[in-house]
Amino acid sequence: MQRRSTVPEAPGPSPIAVVVAGATGWVGSALVPAILAASDLALVGAVARRHAGQDVGTVLGGLPVGVTVVGTVPEALAARAAVMVDFTSAVSVQGHVRAALDRGVHVVVGSSGLDPADDPRLDAYARERGLGVVVAGNFSLVATLAKRLALIAAAEMPGWEVVDYAAASKPDAPSGTAFEWAAALGAAHSKGPAGPGSEGIGHSQARGATIAGVQVHSVRVPGYVLSTALLAGAGDERLTIRYDAGQSPAPYLTGTLLAIRRVTSLLGLVRGLEQLLP
Ligand SMILES: NC(=O)c1ccc[n+]([C@@H]2O[C@H](COP(=O)([O-])OP(=O)(O)OC[C@H]3O[C@@H](n4cnc5c(N)ncnc54)[C@H](OP(=O)(O)O)[C@@H]3O)[C@@H](O)[C@H]2O)c1
Repeated sequence: MQRRSTVPEAPGPSPIAVVVAGATGWVGSALVPAILAASDLALVGAVARRHAGQDVGTVLGGLPVGVTVVGTVPEALAARAAVMVDFTSAVSVQGHVRAALDRGVHVVVGSSGLDPADDPRLDAYARERGLGVVVAGNFSLVATLAKRLALIAAAEMPGWEVVDYAAASKPDAPSGTAFEWAAALGAAHSKGPAGPGSEGIGHSQARGATIAGVQVHSVRVPGYVLSTALLAGAGDERLTIRYDAGQSPAPYLTGTLLAIRRVTSLLGLVRGLEQLLP
């Protein structure tokens, strides 16, 4: 007969306490249930202005979950939190990140609006406080694959530019995804635009913005969610590598959950989901 051990079992690691800023938004309202369903994560705070004072579970159309929505990030961080995830907006994200780091909380940023040119400053700020930050303009695994393919193609092709498509309602341009593609392409391949820039004839703005030495063209028309493309040409051939997002926020969840789980063991800033993938 097998004898039962009398030695008490060591408790497992405690769940990572997470605050979601933007909990009621398009991404946030899918992320909150995903966090609640994960046994290694605990939702301890939810931020959104219009539903402040209500239980986040009921706001999202379900049962109460015991987490009241608050209107500001500092209020939410008063709860014991290890990680703050931000899916709010390009306008508010910067202040939210600083507020979290100032309170000793690791940060995962999905919101667009953090300029990659500011990464060194934010990296130093996080390091001084012994904290990690993951910023990804796109937490989709497929979008990350497309970015990898774009980097491979750019190495082989003599000329290429980035085109960024999104809904007419998107307030910021370029998208976080296109911004990151440009920054990564510019850092890896210093080829510059193949065609004329501001010195060309006509309306030079039509040539788009130059970001990290890469031409980026933002198209904002109804009917698009988000698409990002590398348009490359060589001699009499053309190659397009294009990512098209669908209507649902589901593709962003796996990468965001991965970042939440990894950020607590990071020091400083990591940009791009690919940095966390094997
Ligand atoms: N990295 C990625 O993979 C990825 C994917 C999709 C979207 N995004 C980006 O993520 C951000 C959010 O996108 P979304 O489509 O989910 O936006 P959304 O539907 O507009 O949701 C925004 C959420 O943030 C809250 N919010 C906005 N400003 C706030 C503030 N100042 N203080 C507190 N709460 C605030 C909103 O609630 P209230 O208005 O009630 O405050 C809402 O809950 C955007 O920047 C978008 O470009 C990134």
